[in-house]
Formats: sequence, C-alpha cells, structure tokens
Amino acid sequence: MNTTLTLIEKLAREELIDMVPYQSARRLFSHGNSASGDTGQANNKVWLNANEAPGNGEYQISSKDINRYPDFQPDNLLNAYSSYCSLERSQILATRGADEGIELIIRSFCRAYQDSILICPPTYGMYAISAENHGAGIVKVPLQSSSQGMQLNLDGLQSQVGKVKVVFLCSPGNPTGNLLAKEQIIAAIELFKDSAIVVVDEAYIEFSPEQTSTDLLAQYDNIIVLRTLSKAFALAGLRCGFTLASKDIITLLSKVIAPYPISAPVAEIASAALSTDLEKMSLRVQNCNSLKATLSKWLNERDWCSEVFASDANFVLFRCINPQEKARIFASLVEKDILIRDQSKQMQLENCLRISIGSEQEITQLKEVLS
Ligand SMILES: Cc1ncc(COP(=O)(O)O)c(C=O)c1O
Repeated sequence: MNTTLTLIEKLAREELIDMVPYQSARRLFSHGNSASGDTGQANNKVWLNANEAPGNGEYQISSKDINRYPDFQPDNLLNAYSSYCSLERSQILATRGADEGIELIIRSFCRAYQDSILICPPTYGMYAISAENHGAGIVKVPLQSSSQGMQLNLDGLQSQVGKVKVVFLCSPGNPTGNLLAKEQIIAAIELFKDSAIVVVDEAYIEFSPEQTSTDLLAQYDNIIVLRTLSKAFALAGLRCGFTLASKDIITLLSKVIAPYPISAPVAEIASAALSTDLEKMSLRVQNCNSLKATLSKWLNERDWCSEVFASDANFVLFRCINPQEKARIFASLVEKDILIRDQSKQMQLENCLRISIGSEQEITQLKEVLS
C-alpha cells in the first residue's frame, strides 16, 4: 500500500500532491462512503448551499441511437440555445457545465507555468482551481465596496495590463450576488483589448436578464460570456453550460475540448428545457426574486445580522455581527439538516454566510430555526 502511494507520489505532478480540490457544496456535506462523494440527494436535508433551483422538471428521454457516439455539438441543442440567446451557432460551444468552459479557456489561452489569469475576489472558486490545475499563475485584484455593491477596481486592473492572459469577471457575482456595472465591464474589456481575454461569467444572468453582456460580442474580439443551465433552468444535475464568443474563439476552444462533450440524453433534455420550458423558467425566476426580497428584508431585521448584500442572483449573502454568531447560526441550521454555505474565509467576507433561495417551504423552515 505504502509502496503504491510512494510510487504515485513520485509519478504525479508535484504541485498536485498538496493541492486542495474545489470544496463543492456536495463534497463538503457528503455523508456517504464513496470516494467520489455521496450526492446526499436521497436524504432529507434541505440543500441551500449550492445555488441550485428547488424542484425538478420531468423529462422523457429516448434510447434511440444510444449505440452511436453523439454529434460533437448536437444540432437540437445548438439550435435551441442559439434561438434562446440570439447568437449564431458558430458563436456557441456547449460544454459540461460552465465549469468546463472555465477550464477550456484557461487551457486554450494560458501556457502552463508561463501565463496567468486574473481574478477579482471574492469570486467563484473554480477560476483559481482550474488555473492551479493547469499550472497557470493567479493574479488577484480584489473587488471594492461601493454604493452599487462590490465592483471592479479599474486602477488595479489597469496595473495588470500585459501581465495576464485571461481576466475572469463574475456578473452577477458569486458569492457577492450583485451585478457589475456595465460601464465597468466595458472599461475592463477596453483595458485588455490588445492583451487579454475578458470572461464575463453569467451563470446567474437569468435573474436579471436585461443586464447581459452578450451584446458586447458584436463590438469586441476579446470577450467571452459563460452561461449554464444549472441555475435558473433547474438542471444542475445535467451538467450543461455554454461558452459564447466570436467564431474564432469557438474554433480555438473546439480544438481543446473532448470529442463528444455532450451526451445524447443531455442534449435531449437540455433542448427540451430551452424550447418548451422557457415560461416555467421565467416563473421560477420570478418566485425566486420575490422570496429573495422577503428573506433579505427578514435578515436585515435580525439583531445578529450586520449587513445583507444586495443580490441580483438566486442567493443572499449576509454578514453576522461576530464570528461566534456566525458559527452559532451555521451550526443551528446544520443541526436541523439545513445546509447553507460559509463564505467567511473569502477575502473581505469575514463572518459572511450565503443562503441559496430554495422553495418557499425551505426558506420558511430556515427562518423558523433562526427565529
Ligand atoms: C459563478 C459561477 N460560474 C460557474 C458555475 C458552474 O456552473 P456549472 O454548474 O454550469 O458548471 C457556478 C456554479 O455554482 C457559478 O456559481
């Protein structure tokens, strides 16, 4: 046993030995004994820690032609997303979640152990994990608080022009919740227009769709927009996301992605959701936005809560008055099998917790425990 470990340690890339993988909500709270982590779906926990949608749709799938490899980019899926986002098919790459888009972008633009990405913490953890995995450097230019929530530090970004290859912006931000001002996104794209790709991660854009940056694809060569069906479409288990960019960028990423990234059942379910379920999705977003407003107001009225961050997404981030209260609130929810996400280790988010907007019943249960 030991010999094997030593051999693996000897053979593995050295930097992976001590690397901590992304602590996804599922991994953190899995109680199963499988190495890959029990999904916990079968138990009675209230999952408010991964920004998933409550409830699931019903889909039929056919096993016709399941003996064949799927198309590289299935027609039904690309047509459905093209009509949903009003972009040409040549500007769309379907991937295994937006997470695969993040990884592909880093692998396509950053040379390992030479180039760097730029992130603006507090932000989504997978940008740094994917960079680390690939051997790309990570430059941090933290967000700064403003009257419009956490926004970009444009001077900080300017000082990195020429030093990074990919800049990740998250709008609406996870875990902050707020949109970045469109002028800021444009300013960042302008700053890096000759030296870096600016990625606008729009995983949560359906919760404020008018704020999308996809219109900028017509004006700038250096922008990529990331999308997913995991949030407003309630299909996190499907693993389907989209990278939107110029035809040239999509051609480049297509050289790096696996040959059959989207399985036939995934294409079938995703295209059904995109064609027949758009109304259901809008309704889900409306419900979520109204529950979010009520929960934010309720949190604001608690004496253990010192700040509720404005949210344009399907979750609410709030700050507790001190570490003891944060720990108490988190633990009292866990005790009742209600799981939320501790964000207090993120830069600038001391004592902060994040609640995903689940069903009305789940949010009521949470409030009852905390009352
Ligand atoms: C900002 C952001 N981007 C990307 C993702 C990953 O999405 P997907 O499930 O499509 O891989 C998430 C998931 O939580 C996210 O919060």
